[in-house]
Amino acid sequence: MSRMLFSPYTIKNVTIKNRIVMSPMCMYSSDTKDGHTRPFHLAHYEARSIGQVGLVMIEATAVDPQGRISDQDLGIWDDDHIEGLQKVVSRIQAHGAKAAIQLAHAGRKAMVDGDIFAPSAIAFQEDMRTPKEMTQTKIEETIEAFKNGATRAKKAGFDVIELHGAHGYLINEFLSPLTNKRKDEYGGDLKGRYMFLRNIIDVVKTVWDGPLLIRLSAAEYAEGGNTIEDFVQLGQWLKEQGIDLIDCSSGAVVPAKIPVFPGYQVKYAETIRREADIPTGAVGMITSGLQAEEILRNERADLIFIGRELLRNPYWARQAALELNTEIEAPTPYKRGWN
Ligand code: FNR
Repeated sequence: MSRMLFSPYTIKNVTIKNRIVMSPMCMYSSDTKDGHTRPFHLAHYEARSIGQVGLVMIEATAVDPQGRISDQDLGIWDDDHIEGLQKVVSRIQAHGAKAAIQLAHAGRKAMVDGDIFAPSAIAFQEDMRTPKEMTQTKIEETIEAFKNGATRAKKAGFDVIELHGAHGYLINEFLSPLTNKRKDEYGGDLKGRYMFLRNIIDVVKTVWDGPLLIRLSAAEYAEGGNTIEDFVQLGQWLKEQGIDLIDCSSGAVVPAKIPVFPGYQVKYAETIRREADIPTGAVGMITSGLQAEEILRNERADLIFIGRELLRNPYWARQAALELNTEIEAPTPYKRGWN
């Protein structure tokens, strides 16, 4: 019986061979603090492609050095980063996977020397630094940094771009009423709080016509935060702007406790998919092939993002196929012993 987890999925001009996405995960391994890739990144991402992941997404990669979560993050703020990223892309694509990158700015959660920036001057928590409120000029420069990041991602050969709009980083900080107290057009109601992201998407689209995804934290777990109705509205606007898929994560915009259990975020992917009529990705404690197949068959999401299971086991796709009693193509060098 054919399994949906192993069926292809096409976004624009890109066909992913199955529904398995390696969820973006920071490796804090750019050890010279310059945002450059290292041999580790080549091996790490290539291994998941050999392991038959359909879409291998590179970790949160900073469009601005002040937007790094740590000084060991990957960067894409300089043309010098293109060459290293291009090598990672070709190693991913060599085994039939498509390559994606998550473009990011950490906003008030940046842990770097020098000033840090956010829509409003509010620290994430007491023991963290207070960011500077972004001026309109700073906002415009940062929007431009996302555009330049997309241009460089295209030059590096990525098939897919994802914007990091989740986990309390800069885009999320603009979206949430808990972190955005601005009085100008970038704040106020949901429409105002969406303005920063709206402008980023508009400029990115002037340089990138390939698949464009966004990760959102589709629940804030805090009183006064965006509600699921707000996220459905955002989903509609994102669809109108030509976003191809919303990768539905949750939390971390404020330090609230997240109730975690198998598939704990799937309901957000399901609701946004149904109510805003836009493709979604499900992520978060999805660990088995059966669980992934259930989510796809019940039309709760279109793609399955796998995080930690792919750190534990680069061959998770094969394990999922065994659970689903189906066979998947073996990487050529493994043909004799794979199934
Ligand atoms: C993450 N996560 C994450 N998310 C993201 O959007 N960008 C990122 O760079 C990172 N970095 C990161 C590093 C590490 C070490 C972990 C464990 C997680 C979150 C990740 O993509 C995923 O959404 C969560 O881990 C939940 O999925 P799993 O791990 O339960 O499948």
